Amino acid sequence: MCGIVGYIGDRSAISVLLDGLQHLEYRGYDSAGVAVIQDDQVITHRSVGKLANLIQKIDRRELHGTVGIGHTRWATHGRPTEVNAHPHQEGRVVLVHNGIIENYLDLRRKLEKLGHSFTSETDTEILCHLVAEQLKKTKQMQPAIQKALALVEGSYAIVVMDAEDPDRLYFARQGSPLVLGLGEKENILASDVPAILAYTRKMVFLEDGDRGVISAKKFEIFDAKGKPVKRKVAQIDWDPVMAEKGGYKHFMLKEIFEQPKVIGDTLAGRISAKHGVVLPELAELFGSKKFDVDHIQFVACGTSWHAAGVARYWIESLCGIPVSVDLASEFRYRNPVIGKKTLCVAISQSGETADTLAAAQLAKRRGAKLIAVCNVQGSSVTRLAHATLYTRAGPEIGVASTKAFTTQLTVLWLLTLWLSRKLKKIKTAALEQEVKALKRLPGLVQTSLESHNEVRALAKQFMNASPVLFIGRGTHYPVVLEGALKLKEIAYIHAEGFAAGELKHGPIALVDQDVPVIALLPQGDLLEKMISNIQEVAARGASVLMIGEKNCFPKGMGTAHIPMPKASSYLTPILYVVPLQLFAYDIADQMGTDIDQPRNLAKSVTVE
Ligand code: M6R
Repeated sequence: MCGIVGYIGDRSAISVLLDGLQHLEYRGYDSAGVAVIQDDQVITHRSVGKLANLIQKIDRRELHGTVGIGHTRWATHGRPTEVNAHPHQEGRVVLVHNGIIENYLDLRRKLEKLGHSFTSETDTEILCHLVAEQLKKTKQMQPAIQKALALVEGSYAIVVMDAEDPDRLYFARQGSPLVLGLGEKENILASDVPAILAYTRKMVFLEDGDRGVISAKKFEIFDAKGKPVKRKVAQIDWDPVMAEKGGYKHFMLKEIFEQPKVIGDTLAGRISAKHGVVLPELAELFGSKKFDVDHIQFVACGTSWHAAGVARYWIESLCGIPVSVDLASEFRYRNPVIGKKTLCVAISQSGETADTLAAAQLAKRRGAKLIAVCNVQGSSVTRLAHATLYTRAGPEIGVASTKAFTTQLTVLWLLTLWLSRKLKKIKTAALEQEVKALKRLPGLVQTSLESHNEVRALAKQFMNASPVLFIGRGTHYPVVLEGALKLKEIAYIHAEGFAAGELKHGPIALVDQDVPVIALLPQGDLLEKMISNIQEVAARGASVLMIGEKNCFPKGMGTAHIPMPKASSYLTPILYVVPLQLFAYDIADQMGTDIDQPRNLAKSVTVE
């Protein structure tokens, strides 16, 4: 959702701003804008739709100012129009904002009484006027912003430019992400790391309540009361190239094909023949203390919630601890039974999902120990958690999660093995066996990717179908939910995932010869049950695409088959999701949809 960039230094600001906004496109947006100070004037350009529309409007040769702010807007208050696009300006105050000002109507009324009038429908413009109003009294930008923000309820990350002072940019964050990149004679503010990577890897992840000011050579950070605070400077190990398409048609395809590599990275240093599973990240939380956990509570949204769904089966079966899996948006508004013996695991690729953060906060407040499973170093959930298990997927730019999911599963499987060892529920020989199997995992994922040609051919066949049903059982039930979500997100095809045993309790009424069914058929205890479920839908005319090991396909059944490699039964969810990702990708590609930035979606859902 909304992307912010602010630049001050010795380069032409416009190039850094547009480049930064391009790297934030994945967040989702429907209008964009920039403002640069040049020759004592603020030059603003705004445009509806894709960034390309804005770029077309701008003659970079004419814009040489070295300070500026930019924004991609995901409309909340007010339609996606040019007038509503950021930056907004009132007098000296030029501002971009990510988040929602909840009391904006109240503030608007008060400002109107003081003589302010507004041109847009946005809550952001209120912020501009609020700062401008405070400036009448304080004359100085930093205290004016501080005082204005004290009146605001809601979430925000803002960058403010002073039209009368091109040597400084001001910022504040509360509930929406903001990162400060520290360069040589230049500093950059942005909503996320990929917008900064090309300039520096030295970054400060600002915390809620932080406000501050940057010049080309200096930065100062204050807390909400105006007291100076120190923040850690992190060295980011992501390479700028990781955030490029690298010859692939879409980021999503690149990210699907990166899975063997990033799963290998996620495993690196965490498994060994001698020690089994090593998670030093958990040492401080559980180190010498008695392991006093009687309940595991997962909170997450979307794809991350599906990963939690798989982990529930793993942990309950191997560790014998009851596991609850909640959608964060539901969990935060119920009255969950959480106590000191609860271990809450918040899963989030971005670490900035508003609902997941709120749910994790709630669990922590009620005494739970909190672990984050996250892909983004320094993000909000990692700061909230007592410990973080990082997935090492690298930047995931495609809105539809792929490598984030499989690396989350990898981490969650490591956590399962670690817990089972801690609880003495697994024998050394069995653990050794699983560690051996894990070593083969990147190679097996590579083999799953080899299904691409078959999947591509099938995608043509399934392209005009709607709905498409996905069925699976056990750990593969959350995987079919994920397969259906992928198809909805990028191909806009109505797809549903079902626990195969549930079909006859209702969904089978949907099935006829026009409704394709995709069935996951891994080797194991539930194979026979799955075959019966396939028989049920085939008898009603459905064409069935079966995904499984060759010897598992029942003779004479199914319209099409995708063969999968043999693997330890615990690891098959990580392998079987791969053809589902490819299937959604190929259908969307043939339909020509905007795969990396599907309509109405944002990569990082930082507001409710
Ligand atoms: O960053 P998070 O993992 O917290 O994001 C949660 C969901 O918004 C995310 O998984 C979403 O469902 C993806 N678009 C799925 O492809």
